[in-house]
Amino acid sequence: MSRFPGELLRAGIFISCFVFVLSSSRNVNYTPSNLTHLTDLFPHRTFAQGFSEFFGGPNIQLTNNGSYVNLMLNKSSGSGFVSRDRYKYGFFSTAIKLPSGYTSGVVVAFYMSNADNFPHTHDEIDFELLGHEKRKEWILQTNLYGNGSTGTGREEKFRLWFDPTEEFHQYSIIWNDYHIVFLVDNIPVREVNHSQAISSIYPSKAMSVYATIWDGSQWATHGGKYPVNYKFEPFVASFGEMEMEGCILDPTTSVASCPESGLSIDPVQGEAFAKLSQQQNMGMEWARKRFMFYSYCKDAARFKVLPPECNGAK
Ligand SMILES: *[C@@H]1O[C@H](CO)[C@@H](O)[C@H](O)[C@H]1NC(C)=O
Ligand SMILES: *[C@@H]1O[C@H](CO)[C@@H](O)[C@H](O)[C@H]1NC(C)=O
Ligand SMILES: *[C@@H]1O[C@H](CO)[C@@H](O)[C@H](O)[C@H]1NC(C)=O
Ligand SMILES: *[C@@H]1O[C@H](CO)[C@@H](O)[C@H](O)[C@H]1NC(C)=O
Ligand SMILES: *[C@@H]1O[C@H](CO)[C@@H](O)[C@H](O)[C@H]1NC(C)=O
Repeated sequence: MSRFPGELLRAGIFISCFVFVLSSSRNVNYTPSNLTHLTDLFPHRTFAQGFSEFFGGPNIQLTNNGSYVNLMLNKSSGSGFVSRDRYKYGFFSTAIKLPSGYTSGVVVAFYMSNADNFPHTHDEIDFELLGHEKRKEWILQTNLYGNGSTGTGREEKFRLWFDPTEEFHQYSIIWNDYHIVFLVDNIPVREVNHSQAISSIYPSKAMSVYATIWDGSQWATHGGKYPVNYKFEPFVASFGEMEMEGCILDPTTSVASCPESGLSIDPVQGEAFAKLSQQQNMGMEWARKRFMFYSYCKDAARFKVLPPECNGAK
């Protein structure tokens, strides 16, 4: 069947409206007067000050003397780096600038895991940025596993309120005995309290910190529907402003030594890290109301019985 001009016109109007809606939802910055910039509290680490190659060596490029790391995905490999130390609790952050253009199937991740040490009972805390097809946007996914709970994904998905390919934006994790918080540009987007309901799967063993780029064609695009198109390679994600502060595991004694407690910037016991402020809670409400479009806690089609921590979840 041939297409009628009217149809094309309608399609055109539809697409312009769509683009308009997308662009108008962006650049709506949330700038409450005194939202704590947790990322300003700690020094940035260079690659040499805490990291080493994880995989894809030739596709890792250091710039500014290692203050920035470019991770490349091309047809031969993705790439990644990993912290030298393992941590039990702390504050972990990086700024990321994502590749632009057609990036379907490309996954950029900033996460913590101990899967190498505990293959059957591993813990994991994930930021995953999922590339996109034409006219779509990068999606932010958060997830966690504890004590090998890989049968139950606890995903939440968000649109972003900025174009993550234009500039660097900060992605941070608070992980301590009180809660796990995911923050984007210091605005909390998700808090997982260490409550009774979730205690059996609350990440509780020391983890390494990872940054990676990889081909997630099968995993991220409905079973390979929109795979990575290597016509557009290389895909380069830039990382900088890396921060890691917390209790460092001594691998020989398996004891983690923590920062001096009582310091105002103690990410393990300090008040600013144990509890979200009113401002942070307002920011979180804003982010979740406007930008979260999927939460496992609302997915009744997937779970016959929702995980216990979902009771009363917002
Ligand atoms: C580059 O990094 C190395 C090791 O971290 C350091 O010794 C050196 O002073 C740095 N050079 C500059 C120009 O910052
Ligand atoms: C991928 O990048 C690496 C490092 O730059 C290069 O050596 C290799 O030839 C590239 N592979 C392809 C298939 O382009
Ligand atoms: C976490 O616990 C605090 C109280 O300690 C509560 O105010 C907050 O709403 C809880 N957050 C979530 C996501 O349930
Ligand atoms: C973690 O899982 C293992 C194996 O399933 C189990 O033996 C152990 O009790 C669990 N630990 C906690 C803290 O639930
Ligand atoms: C700043 O934050 C504090 C504590 O969260 C709050 O009591 C105060 O009202 C806030 N100030 C402004 C101007 O919002």
